Formats: sequence, structure tokens, C-alpha cells
Amino acid sequence: MKEFNMRSIGTIHSPYLETSQIPKGLGTRHTAEGMLELLPEFAAGLQDIEGFSHLILIWVFHRSEGYELVGTPPSDDKPHGVFTTRAPRRPNPIGLTVVELDRREGNFLHLRGVDMLDGTPVLDIKPYTSSVPEERLRRGWLEEAEKRARGEKQA
Ligand SMILES: C[S@@+](CC[C@H](N)C(=O)[O-])C[C@H]1O[C@@H](n2cnc3c(N)ncnc32)[C@H](O)[C@@H]1O
Repeated sequence: MKEFNMRSIGTIHSPYLETSQIPKGLGTRHTAEGMLELLPEFAAGLQDIEGFSHLILIWVFHRSEGYELVGTPPSDDKPHGVFTTRAPRRPNPIGLTVVELDRREGNFLHLRGVDMLDGTPVLDIKPYTSSVPEERLRRGWLEEAEKRARGEKQA
């Protein structure tokens, strides 16, 4: 197995101090505001970021321990493989969130749509440029769980 060393480039300031405070389950929309404080040594890398409405944040589930290869997510009552879910307990505890960029103030990014704990370490930022047409997108068990929740019949 290969190992890679990474360091955080910044930290999330979020209203969530405990995981129980973060909205979960089917249909959840994340609208909470937060900030990413980038380490000043990386601030030059934010040049031109204001042109993007949304960003992909790659971060570490720093308060999760161990992993479970099959588990039941809050959005379903059936078990699924970890690589088909967004569960925090995974072999590499990496989180990925698409957030809306409200504004930049120096090395601070003001964001909407955070779903991570206060103090979460951030590994990377990338611009969000969606490219998968809706008709090509399949959403696996989640689509079925949503249909069940709406009371629709399974095919
Ligand atoms: C379902 S995950 C989704 C996170 C991200 N959008 C993703 O897809 O990777 C979000 C949950 O992770 C947990 N969580 C958030 N920040 C965390 C952190 N820093 N350490 C451990 N668990 C965290 C909370 O329970 C939260 O509800």
C-alpha cells in the first residue's frame, strides 16, 4: 500500500460544533454559512477565485475514527458499501463538499453550504465546473431511496 503525506492548507470556521448539529438524511439542503481560513502562505493561490460561484473543498474527517465497509446511511434503511455513500468513517477519511463562494477577504473565503465541523482541516480547493448532463447521471440506491420516501412504486 502506498502512503502519501499531506498537510492542511487551511481551516473551516463553521457553526457546527458537534456532528449531531449537522442536518442529515434524504433531501437535506445545506445552507449554513461558514468561512475557510487559508494559511497566509497559500493566499496567492486564491488569485481569480472570485470569478467562480462554487468551489469544491477537499477536507479531512478529522474527528472520525476507523471505517466501516458496509453501513446504513441516514438517507436509507438498507446497508450500502462505503464507496457508494458519503459516510465519514471510510478507509481514507476524506470529505468533499461543493460550497457557494460568497466573497473573499484576503485569505478568508466566505462560504454558503458548509456541512463540516468547526475546525475541520482543508486539503485543497478546486473550482466547481459541473460537466455531467442531467440525462447521463445515475444516482444508484439514493434515487431508489428517494422514490420510496415519496411513496412511489419500484420498477
Ligand atoms: C455525510 S458527510 C458528507 C460530507 C461531505 N459532503 C462529503 O460528501 O464527503 C457529513 C457528515 O460528516 C460528519 N462530519 C462533518 N465534519 C466532520 C469532521 N471534521 N470529522 C468527522 N466527522 C465530520 C457529520 O456527521 C456530517 O453530518
